[in-house]
Amino acid sequence: MQIRRVRFYAAALVFLLSGCADGPEPVADKWATWQSYAGSADTSQYSSLTGINVENVTGLEVAWTFPSGEAAHRSTPIVIDDVMFVVANGGVAALNAATGEQKWFSADCVSPNARGLVYWQSDDGSQQRLLVIRDPELLALDARTGKRLAFGERESIDLRLNLGRDPETIGRIASMSPGRVHENLIILGSAMGDDAYDAAPGDIRAYDVLTGEMVWTFHTIPHPGEAGYETWPPDAYKTIGAANAWTAMSLDEERGIIYANTGAPSYHFHGGNRLGDNLFSNSLLALNASTGERLWHFQAVHHDVWDYDIAMAPKLLTVERGGQRIDAVTLAGKHGFLFVFDRVTGEPVFPIEERAVPQTDVPGEQTSPTQPYPLVLPPFANQTLSEDNLSPYADPEEVASLASRIRQARNEGLFTPPSFRGSVNAPGSRGGAQHGNGAVIPDAGLLFMAVIESPTIPKLELRNDLTAEQFLAAGVAATYTATCAPCHGARGKGQPPLIPGLAGLSDRMSGTEFASIVKQGRGRMPAVQNLPETQLSALMDHIGQLDRLAVAEPSDEVPELETPAMDVSDAQRYRSGYHHFFSDNGLVGPPPWSKLIAYDLNEGVIVWQKPYGDVPALVKRGITGTGSLFPTNSLMATASGLLFSATNDRKIRAWDQASGAVLWSADLPADPGGIPATYTVDGRQYLVATATRGEITSSGDQHAYVVYAVGGAAH
Ligand code: HEC
Repeated sequence: MQIRRVRFYAAALVFLLSGCADGPEPVADKWATWQSYAGSADTSQYSSLTGINVENVTGLEVAWTFPSGEAAHRSTPIVIDDVMFVVANGGVAALNAATGEQKWFSADCVSPNARGLVYWQSDDGSQQRLLVIRDPELLALDARTGKRLAFGERESIDLRLNLGRDPETIGRIASMSPGRVHENLIILGSAMGDDAYDAAPGDIRAYDVLTGEMVWTFHTIPHPGEAGYETWPPDAYKTIGAANAWTAMSLDEERGIIYANTGAPSYHFHGGNRLGDNLFSNSLLALNASTGERLWHFQAVHHDVWDYDIAMAPKLLTVERGGQRIDAVTLAGKHGFLFVFDRVTGEPVFPIEERAVPQTDVPGEQTSPTQPYPLVLPPFANQTLSEDNLSPYADPEEVASLASRIRQARNEGLFTPPSFRGSVNAPGSRGGAQHGNGAVIPDAGLLFMAVIESPTIPKLELRNDLTAEQFLAAGVAATYTATCAPCHGARGKGQPPLIPGLAGLSDRMSGTEFASIVKQGRGRMPAVQNLPETQLSALMDHIGQLDRLAVAEPSDEVPELETPAMDVSDAQRYRSGYHHFFSDNGLVGPPPWSKLIAYDLNEGVIVWQKPYGDVPALVKRGITGTGSLFPTNSLMATASGLLFSATNDRKIRAWDQASGAVLWSADLPADPGGIPATYTVDGRQYLVATATRGEITSSGDQHAYVVYAVGGAAH
């Protein structure tokens, strides 16, 4: 099936006509500029410009290049009139967007990983501010000069405040995503090193851009009296973290609604200390952008233990169903499902059903009995992994090792919960829909997505904060008490039949077998990390003497546990050993490891899918079409029927939206960082690639913004 190209030109025509209808005033087409991160406040990653199109795209050549310095980052430029603002050289630079000439530079004011900048101007245009993240603060610059501006009395906004936690305990808090402007507010999500047990909560907050006052906050982990509070333990709002909107949020400017996709709660792979559905983690939230009031929500993963963050921004577009035009918003998950909702009511556009899913066997954990499945929209990623279908390009030993891990692991399809044996998760927490990988044709109901296939096998282990050296210093008895006694008991009696006693161990097994059980875990026993190899045989000897020791030193006795049920502090005893299966030759799972997909949401179908770039090491062996490894921030669509992608094979490509064919490509001087962007100056359209990330491997390479135009530099 092919997408009819006529649709794109029809969409372009609508813009032109609406331009005429509004009289002499030039109509602001928000998609004709690149004033906001990802193009426009709706995160559409879409441009209505048609100066670069299917007919002339092969004429693209480098117009200018701006070196961005050594620090690799993921920033996407914004362009206001003919000035481009970029993160570069450890600060922010303003460039002539037609020539790349630097107008000003402001040093030391942006965290190198920030995804971009926010521009705000007052109604009369007299004030023009750039809002810049320097974690944990938000700063303001004068967009005309690059000079620092204050927020009323404040030099900066401290994002660690007003979270209900001790600010000193909060390390990272600012999201790399730059936030959205609604009137005089900047609305910010957060990112807090969200896989730690003690992460900060993921409140979504709005600040006045002039005074710096916090105007509203939305608790993604609800406080007493707020909706969703009952889906957590009573004190969760004081102790549990994350459930944060770290990816870009999307604003419906006309309606004043901000859409936020939230991430998993901490700790990602074990939720014994946060039993319940855990609203509003892993959810799409529709909030009143002026007040923060929740209008509706949808939770895509209940009680997440897979790190299935909703990592792609909500996409706003209009679909046509049964003769009706519906303003819609999408939720695309890391787990491979796409959900589409009426933007105003939250009603699903395509039906959704709760289905029974595999259940946890980890003591103290409770997984949700059901999870939401879309009924019409086909999944966009592989949700299974079998040992019979691994990469033909990996070394046979790697394939054999992964096959053996798969055989040992729980492998019951999507939502197989983490376990002490390891559990197969496909598409995996770094797979599916990821940040910056979706673009829409807002008026045509089309969604394009770069999709990652990266199955993983998380495996819960006993977490301990002791190093091997500390274990050795503490001695073998303390090691036993700290890491084994909570389950096997002070005297090694165990809790039969669930937890075996350890008496007579040396008659039952060899030292090697003992070491392998402790290091790898078995059944319902977690692996115990960091124990020094040299201590293992001493530990086994110690276990052999437990009865005698307990009699000799009765005061050492640790109370026997009835069952291995966990209280809150015990529930924090687990961490995840985590396996991605990289190899020099790509991933060990089945290729393609990334693909480009076109959904027609008017019909509810996938129209085409293609491998998304290559892996350089395999290209050298003559193998192409495997998909690039872990592309993020990679996609942009235009009204002229093109898709631009930047992938980790250091290529920028132009694809035909109708067929998925590659029409043009060019080599980048480094790995891409931000989303490709486009804009016009004096009627000429430019394309920006951000080669700002990754290692510089040879002398000709550099981190740079590379700007293309048909015919290259103007003469
Ligand atoms: C969270 C609870 C837990 C902790 C902590 C734990 N174990 Fe276990 N252990 C178990 C369970 C449950 C089994 C049974 C595993 C199975 O399903 O075969 C087991 C089995 C064993 C076995 C095999 C016994 C047999 O007869 O087959 C050994 C040996 C063992 N554990 C040693 C240790 C040691 C040493 C430590 C500390 C370093 C430890 N365990 C910590 C729960 C635990």
